[in-house]
Amino acid sequence: MHAEDVPLPRIAEEVGTPVYVYSRATLERHARVFNEALAPLGDPLIAFAVKSNPNLAVLNVLQKQGFGADVVSGGELRRALAAGIAPAKIVFSGVGKTRAELELGLDEEIGQFNIESREEGHELAEIAASRGIEAQACLRVNPDVDAKTHEKISTGKAENKFGVPLMRARETFDELAALEGMNLRGVAIHIGSQLADLEPLETAFAKVGQLVADLRAAGHTITHVDLGGGLGVPYRKGEILPSPAEYGAMVARATAGWDVKLTFEPGRVIAGNAGVLLTRVVRVKRGGNGPPFVIVDAAMNDLARPALYGAWHDFDAVEPSGERMTANIVGPICETGDTFATDRDCDALRSGDLAVFRTAGAYGATMASSYNSRGFVAEVLVDGDRFAVVADRIDAGAIMDAERVPDWL
Ligand code: LLP
Repeated sequence: MHAEDVPLPRIAEEVGTPVYVYSRATLERHARVFNEALAPLGDPLIAFAVKSNPNLAVLNVLQKQGFGADVVSGGELRRALAAGIAPAKIVFSGVGKTRAELELGLDEEIGQFNIESREEGHELAEIAASRGIEAQACLRVNPDVDAKTHEKISTGKAENKFGVPLMRARETFDELAALEGMNLRGVAIHIGSQLADLEPLETAFAKVGQLVADLRAAGHTITHVDLGGGLGVPYRKGEILPSPAEYGAMVARATAGWDVKLTFEPGRVIAGNAGVLLTRVVRVKRGGNGPPFVIVDAAMNDLARPALYGAWHDFDAVEPSGERMTANIVGPICETGDTFATDRDCDALRSGDLAVFRTAGAYGATMASSYNSRGFVAEVLVDGDRFAVVADRIDAGAIMDAERVPDWL
């Protein structure tokens, strides 16, 4: 198995395992396909959801494809800038931006704040007015639409914490648009992630269209609408999801006549299938009354999605023998939750073999922790027949070095 033209065993040998491996060519292809699918919509801003893969090299690849960035913290904002993304192409989302983060966004003159509440709008306007400037902003609304995805990554239901409820959108917009320091110029939504069906998105977009018409009828000037991210990707071989082209056609239908600049915030659809988590089998242990345990050197601290959401990641040997086995695939962490797959039909594996978890380029390394003092996983970017370590492995010792025992102990 190769990443582009680089054999994965070479990366394992030189960098060690576990390690995330990203393909530059795949990132570029995904960016191009997404750009092309949305090109008929005028000149939309495609702001990559940095949370899905904040690696500086990955952001740099996407910046070269004309992408902006959707950020949700001061840290992500700094990364986007460090990757060379123009401030005008940065959108700041997030339900709990601190005063310091609002100030940072204004300092850096970012293109857009997506305001998630009346309270946040007042604070932002007050800071901007005190500087004699205007914040460029959209109001994030909560359309109360069920995105039909995992409950932990659904964001557009009334009970979710995100945005302003649609029924209060008009009054909130009236109030915030009148503030000094505020250029409230449109609306934003994002209803959830890993959407396998376009219908909830289309329903939500129709509600946004109605709101835009109502706001205009009330005398507001609406020039921008941010439609968020959320397009799902196949995690299993053979699974079919809506393509970017189908998504683009639906958006064209839903937004016909809006006459606004559109923004999109895709994350997973760009990065998910551009990366794998490369791991080595520590040993294979006989099961109790079930299948054997394939214990790999990656764990839930490196790839949290299976433990957090019960997510499926395809798992394949790097050098398959042709034989198959049924196994429970687990990491070394001392929790039963550290299980990647149960009763999985997979390539036969033995101690020392290499394997990959696929579709790990989004919400992989970025959600890593150092639980069990395992350190932080390394990341590699491949480009043709060359590769580079784009994030060093941070070993447990370096993390320990940042800790102190006070001298009064
Ligand atoms: N915009 C906003 C405001 C978001 O909250 C998100 C994701 C996105 C864009 C990008 O969504 P995407 O295109 O990637 O679906 N950790 C979870 C996913 C959490 C998504 C959070 N918000 C997972 O591993 O599945």
